Amino acid sequence: MKNVLIIGATGQIGSELTMMLRRQYPTGDIVAGYIPGAEPKGELADSGPSAIVDITDPGQIGEAVRKYNVDTIYNLAALLSAVAEARPQLAWKVGVGGLYNVLEVARERGCAVFTPSSIGSFGPETPHDATPQDTIQRPRTIYGVTKVTGELLSDYYARRFGVDTRSVRFPGLISHVALPGGGTTDYAVDIFYSAVKGEKFKCPIAKGTYMDMMYMPDALRAAIQIMEADADRLIHRNSFNVASMSFDPEIIYNKIKEYIPEFAMEYDVDPLRQHIADSWPNSLDDSCARNEWDWKPAYDLDAMTRDMIEKLRIKLGVTENCHACV
Ligand code: SER
Repeated sequence: MKNVLIIGATGQIGSELTMMLRRQYPTGDIVAGYIPGAEPKGELADSGPSAIVDITDPGQIGEAVRKYNVDTIYNLAALLSAVAEARPQLAWKVGVGGLYNVLEVARERGCAVFTPSSIGSFGPETPHDATPQDTIQRPRTIYGVTKVTGELLSDYYARRFGVDTRSVRFPGLISHVALPGGGTTDYAVDIFYSAVKGEKFKCPIAKGTYMDMMYMPDALRAAIQIMEADADRLIHRNSFNVASMSFDPEIIYNKIKEYIPEFAMEYDVDPLRQHIADSWPNSLDDSCARNEWDWKPAYDLDAMTRDMIEKLRIKLGVTENCHACV
């Protein structure tokens, strides 16, 4: 990787991935692709080039790739699972039409492509515990349908045209920089904001609902490490299960209470999100990622909780509440 285009650079993953790539590849152009209305700000705007790249416009993708001689594209444009159910046509246009546009530019220009898949690519018939790498993928959400289609289309372009497509199936991602917005796993981010602000949290997901989650620094490492992996070792490409922790609302709530004992939570279950969560795995088996490109997460639940609380206290200017933070 030298010159990289990140499509969706101001989103939850993109805003942090762009900065990490700029730090790791200081001699290359790391281009923040954004849509009007979601302009990069602050350090993201000042530390490198940016370009308007609407994924539904193949001309804009091609122009940015040519201008900056891009060799790798991170395609992070997507509607998350819950908002996608409200706008399925747009979810398909962005998730599948957009990916097709990216793959066509990549085919013509010889770029490598990373497009995240998700735990949402699985469905009710998938084995829910220790979900294998290769298993049944019959999702019932449009988000999941776009993700499975994306996995298949990306593998097709690799086999048929030699486009270097690689990806991972992300769990719910927990981060303190940009909010996710519209996903089923968002509660695991929102709960930290409520806890640090000293507010009671209304949990939209029911007790006992387990989902895989990951702290953003691990997710960023996964996204970079897979693109740098030795291609000769890869048996799979699109997409690898990656995992670091699995919990239900009670577990994360009680973990946060270890640091903020007065934190309170009540349940106010959102039927759509609960229905989606029930169809997703409880935990993934990521042994193929570990064997084929040495994937290994650094954060467990406790390390993530401590870091999230510490970072959010600084971000939100909160100094009380946290009894165990240093
Ligand atoms: N975080 C996503 C969602 O909840 C799943 O990958 O939609």
